[in-house]
Amino acid sequence: MAEFDVIVIGGGPGGYVCAIRCAQLGLKTACVEGRETLGGTCLNVGCIPSKALLNATHHLHEAHENFAKMGLIGGAPMVDWAKMQDYKQDVVTGNTKGIEFLFKKNKVTWLKGWGSIPAAGQVKVGDEVHSAKHIVIATGSEPAALPGVTVDEDVVVTSTGALSLGRIPKSLVVIGAGVIGLEMGSVYARLGAEVTVVEYLDTITPGMDEEVAKSFRRLLARQGFKFILAAAVQGSERTESGVKVRYKLRKDNTAHEIEADVVLVATGRRPYTAGLGLEALGVAMEPRGQVRIDEHFQTNMKGIYAIGDAVPGPMLAHKAEDEGMAVAENLAGKHGHVNHDVIPGVIYTTPEVASVGKTEEQLKAEGRAYKMGKFPFMGNARAKAMFQGDGFVKLLADKETDRILGCHIIGPSAGEMIHEVCVAMEFGASAQDLALTCHAHPTCSEAVREAALACGDGAIHA
Ligand code: NAI
Repeated sequence: MAEFDVIVIGGGPGGYVCAIRCAQLGLKTACVEGRETLGGTCLNVGCIPSKALLNATHHLHEAHENFAKMGLIGGAPMVDWAKMQDYKQDVVTGNTKGIEFLFKKNKVTWLKGWGSIPAAGQVKVGDEVHSAKHIVIATGSEPAALPGVTVDEDVVVTSTGALSLGRIPKSLVVIGAGVIGLEMGSVYARLGAEVTVVEYLDTITPGMDEEVAKSFRRLLARQGFKFILAAAVQGSERTESGVKVRYKLRKDNTAHEIEADVVLVATGRRPYTAGLGLEALGVAMEPRGQVRIDEHFQTNMKGIYAIGDAVPGPMLAHKAEDEGMAVAENLAGKHGHVNHDVIPGVIYTTPEVASVGKTEEQLKAEGRAYKMGKFPFMGNARAKAMFQGDGFVKLLADKETDRILGCHIIGPSAGEMIHEVCVAMEFGASAQDLALTCHAHPTCSEAVREAALACGDGAIHA
């Protein structure tokens, strides 16, 4: 039985970051992970492999759409799916090995196996029980099941199966117009599949700024996406050639069906805490299955903490990482803190979509006086040179104080550009602060500055 200051259960972005920070701060730390490789869902079957496939297929799309326009003649490349899968796996392996290296470098002990908490201060892995002053639950999430639709990870897949299909489907039905559905839908649409998204609500990406969501939907439709909105999926059946999905349109309750080679179920994820023994231990849970925590990430049991997808809040790797660091700092006697009001969200499609802070709809609902500055990428020279003049930056600021309240970007490199607004918000900056900051020309980031100018005396190039 080994004794540790901290045992983190789960080696995903929340868990491994927490473990590394604990070790860096002088705590004797172990991290329990049952997968063959570290990195959790994000590195193994989530953010990272999907970005590899998005990268490869983005270049294919560019070759199809834009190469000839730039005088690059020679036709679009052929797709070697097996090779693309190898590339994806190499990217994953490089990253997961990287975490293993960081564990060694920082002297974090990797306890290989699935962990449970038989009693406060104890973590069981396999037949061994280890003791720890502090235990951090960072066990992440798993795809939520959809009644009537049986996942076989072959023709009815979750995001995990969608990353490793045996062949490129001719047709794909995606259930759920959220982040996973639209990212993976983009991969296969660019590879030539006919992609139809069936969504329960009458909008895509619920919660997103409505103007951005509308523009996003229009641009995806231009790329060949078909959307069936306000449709409740009733179930699915295998057919000789693929899968049939039955749904009812909510407006008139009429029954319909659609057939495809493959169906991707992307209707959200739920916290994964099975097998930890939390119920027997008496750890309090939220009604929706997350672990209940206080403002210091501590559960109702002293010495047991929880972070990331296993607790309330957006299921995002970077939110989990920040919480992991904050817990580590608290355990080391420092003052860890996460500003949950400034957590960016990014969808890695083309164009990218990124947001931080309040949406216009939220500000309206709060009855808050605000001003809005908007700038289209059509007025940005760099974006136009890349054939990416679609989309815009929308900046929201307090009407009285000019303090930035939110930013929503749809356009090239939106996922990179959003961070200057995050930093500005962390410093309590005004829209004018951004507007007065020199931005290099020609960059896409100038559109952020122009949106800030539009909150004041007006943008220059619009
Ligand atoms: P999501 O919550 O983003 O979207 C699920 C969608 O499915 C919603 O539009 C919802 O209205 C719809 N839906 C729910 N039940 C339905 C039904 N019965 N029939 C039809 N539509 C239905 O969930 P998603 O895309 O599965 O992603 C899971 C989590 O993973 C999210 O929290 C997401 O933020 C995270 N993620 C983040 C990524 C990123 O940051 N780029 C990439 C992939 C996932």
